[in-house]
Amino acid sequence: MDNRPIGIMDSGLGGLSVIRIVNQQLPHEKLIFVGDQGHFPYGTRTQQDVCQLALNIARFFKRQNVKMMIVACNTATAAALPTLQKEMPFPVIGMIVPGVKGALQQKHHQSVGVIGTASTIESHAYEHELHRQDRSVQVVEKAAQPLVPIVEHGQTGTEQAYQTVDEQLKIFDQQPIQTLILGCTHFPFLADEIQQKLGYQVVLVDPAKETVNAAKEWLTQHDALNDTEMMPQSRLYSTGDVEILKAGAKKWLSNQNYTCAHLEL
Ligand code: DGL
Repeated sequence: MDNRPIGIMDSGLGGLSVIRIVNQQLPHEKLIFVGDQGHFPYGTRTQQDVCQLALNIARFFKRQNVKMMIVACNTATAAALPTLQKEMPFPVIGMIVPGVKGALQQKHHQSVGVIGTASTIESHAYEHELHRQDRSVQVVEKAAQPLVPIVEHGQTGTEQAYQTVDEQLKIFDQQPIQTLILGCTHFPFLADEIQQKLGYQVVLVDPAKETVNAAKEWLTQHDALNDTEMMPQSRLYSTGDVEILKAGAKKWLSNQNYTCAHLEL
């Protein structure tokens, strides 16, 4: 048993879409979350820049003595995962390999769409991993950076959200897909808008599910699950405006047992 916390990071509120799955799948785990809102968004930064930011947060987690880090950010996974895994003394779990696994588990996965930030799509990290796991898959990638601030600024469900989703996902009118990977952790909060745009025959894959499964598997195999109380209090930090984090957590997390604070890194 290992009762130390798990560190989770993102550029902002997207990380909460991963935390809500952690809360469901690993309800005994204590979490420390860093939303790097002081440097939001990651998706328009260089990979080098994102790698440095992710390393900085990982070093904070190291000082907090975490037992594992989940990179709840596809952009940071694409830019920094091997570096984090090399530099950190704890296991670091990313989103892309599990996200692809989740997509290929779907019955209809001959044509798979991927939406993500500008940086993630430019890196082709998902396309490469999809083809590594199944060479026959047709992949349609689309950067959808304008969807990120819609979530971050609390505008999901609005007319503007539906309109932006409609504009950003137009490519799939011409190039139909069977399964869509939500390759940015902000996007599961726009699932209704995306599903309405693409139709209900398209399966939306949230990589968080398989990512959390991978984390759970590692913790189980290494006898490192937390064996104390159910739903322990988690600590949520923002390197930017903590009010945005508070509003997001209130809206998106069903487990309200957490504290929110500003973090200077
Ligand atoms: N939520 C992040 C991701 O999964 C990044 C969004 C951004 O900051 O651009 O890629």
